[in-house]
Amino acid sequence: MDQALILKKMAAERESDMTRTRHAWNRNERRVRVIAVTSGKGGVGKTNIAANLAFSLVQMKKKALLLDADLGLANVDVILGLAPEFNLYHVLKGEKTISETVINGPGGIMILPAASGIAEMAELSAGHKMTLLDVLNDFRQKIDYMFIDTAAGIAGNVMYFNAAAKEIIVVVSPEPTSLTDAYALIKVLYQRYAKRVFRLIVNMAKDQAEAKQVYQRLNKATDHFLDLNIGYLGHVLNDDNVTQSVRRQKVVSELYPDSPASRCLREIARKLAGENPDYEDDGNISFC
Ligand SMILES: Nc1ncnc2c1ncn2[C@@H]1O[C@H](COP(=O)(O)OP(=O)(O)OP(=O)(O)O)[C@@H](O)[C@H]1O
Ligand SMILES: [Mg+2]
Repeated sequence: MDQALILKKMAAERESDMTRTRHAWNRNERRVRVIAVTSGKGGVGKTNIAANLAFSLVQMKKKALLLDADLGLANVDVILGLAPEFNLYHVLKGEKTISETVINGPGGIMILPAASGIAEMAELSAGHKMTLLDVLNDFRQKIDYMFIDTAAGIAGNVMYFNAAAKEIIVVVSPEPTSLTDAYALIKVLYQRYAKRVFRLIVNMAKDQAEAKQVYQRLNKATDHFLDLNIGYLGHVLNDDNVTQSVRRQKVVSELYPDSPASRCLREIARKLAGENPDYEDDGNISFC
């Protein structure tokens, strides 16, 4: 056999070894969907949407963690009526492990609570950001989905969590200011953080037609000014049952499972569960 043929054969064997190793590694690794739920304007329904999507996925036998990433002004525990003993602050200080801090939420969703009123959490230091990625990566074997409920706007922490997540859901309401603020958020994430994939949930919609119109308006703007198309993930109807549930500190999907909003949220959760996104990297929770 001439030299070139021998080399070619060796290269082919090496390649198939590498493929085998990669497949074995993938089988052992749990693929986590890391999904940021974010918005430009506050109060558009991020926390409700993140909590209800996590709840619906747990009902589909998935394991879901809800990370309260509104670090300065925690709100997941308030909305869900929980009184956590420890929170992310203790984890970042090294006083508690993530397993000691995660609490059980409605239906068995796992919740990593944030601290409230601690100024040093309002803007994470570089060291804390590294520690956070490390602890979340250590936890990823235990979960299928991580929903990151961010604060609104374009402050540092919000950008950090959106940049670290593999998928970004932008929540808007039909109000014009919610759209302009969403556009500003997407623009910064696209131009400064090289994020390319955004999907929209239109919350508090009157009907599906209104939600589609809202989506088209925003997509037209991003397409025209940024040359970027955003995806449409779904809509959640304006439903007084959501307000009732918030008052009773429960998720609407548990309290009123057949309400219009719960049906919409379940449909979006089913859509997420039915996908198999092709993350290009190793699936770590990381900057990408
Ligand atoms: N689909 C809906 N129909 C009716 N009301 C809704 C709906 N979704 C949310 N709301 C109302 O909007 C309020 C704000 O929701 P939520 O706290 O989830 O918003 P947020 O975007 O997380 O706010 P923040 O930016 O302050 O974190 C809720 O208290 C609820 O009353
Ligand atoms: Mg919120």
